[in-house]
Amino acid sequence: MLPASAPHPAPIGVFDSGYGGLTVLREFIDALPQYDYLYLGDNARTPYGTRSFETVYQYTLEAVRWFARQGCALVILACNTASAKALRSIQQNDLPHIAGLRRVLGVLRPSTESIGQHSHSGSIGILATRGTVASLSYPTEIAHFFPHLKVYQQACPMWVPLVENNKIDTPGADYFVGESLRALFAQSAQIDTVLLACTHYPLLHKQIAAHLPAGVRLVSQGKLVAASLEDYLQRHPEIDCLLSRNGTRSFCTTDSTRDFDAHSALFFGEAVHSRQVSL
Ligand code: DGL
Repeated sequence: MLPASAPHPAPIGVFDSGYGGLTVLREFIDALPQYDYLYLGDNARTPYGTRSFETVYQYTLEAVRWFARQGCALVILACNTASAKALRSIQQNDLPHIAGLRRVLGVLRPSTESIGQHSHSGSIGILATRGTVASLSYPTEIAHFFPHLKVYQQACPMWVPLVENNKIDTPGADYFVGESLRALFAQSAQIDTVLLACTHYPLLHKQIAAHLPAGVRLVSQGKLVAASLEDYLQRHPEIDCLLSRNGTRSFCTTDSTRDFDAHSALFFGEAVHSRQVSL
């Protein structure tokens, strides 16, 4: 019998419901430029944040299977909603049955394992989509690492549509950012650290910072997730050796490539040329 051939090294798969994951990909490339990356935005079905657990799980599983068909051994869900609602089921139930795929990682763990180090008051705020907030994944995960931390969550359902529709520098964005932040601080005036727990939100950084009470620290996830990936690859040479290293980046979307290419630079910081795919 012939020995099974070794798998070809392949890009790291990076997934989001739309454009938000590009803010995480940017940080991956800055920290680990030598790897190849394959980005997929499920723009045709975004947003995920307002959808049910079952739907987010189904959509995310379809995306993960698509990455496996492209030969990816490692996929990062650069989407909090998918990480909160689908990651655990996929890791526990589906991954063992998807040929070639070895690991699926998310953005929650890297963000929660260090968040308590930023707070002096012991009270932190989480800003996220409705789906992420309702999943209670952040309070649950944070309690593992920092059991004494008080965690206050605020859903910001208008923020993703504002970003996806490029309405960032508008009075409307200012209004909805202010409204959500007032609602968060109405829960507790002790909050001294706020985590942007949605990969779209760094695009609203300026508007958010303008509405934050003085002295409150704003934490974005991109750098935390990139540092965590770097650490993971050092600790897991059996996964690292399955990743190709030619410094290439490929972009795929489930919707119009014209829209994707037009909007992506805002998130990624440079122009991209995408390919349309169906899952
Ligand atoms: N960017 C995704 C996240 O980090 C959410 C966007 C959406 O609602 O689809 O949660």
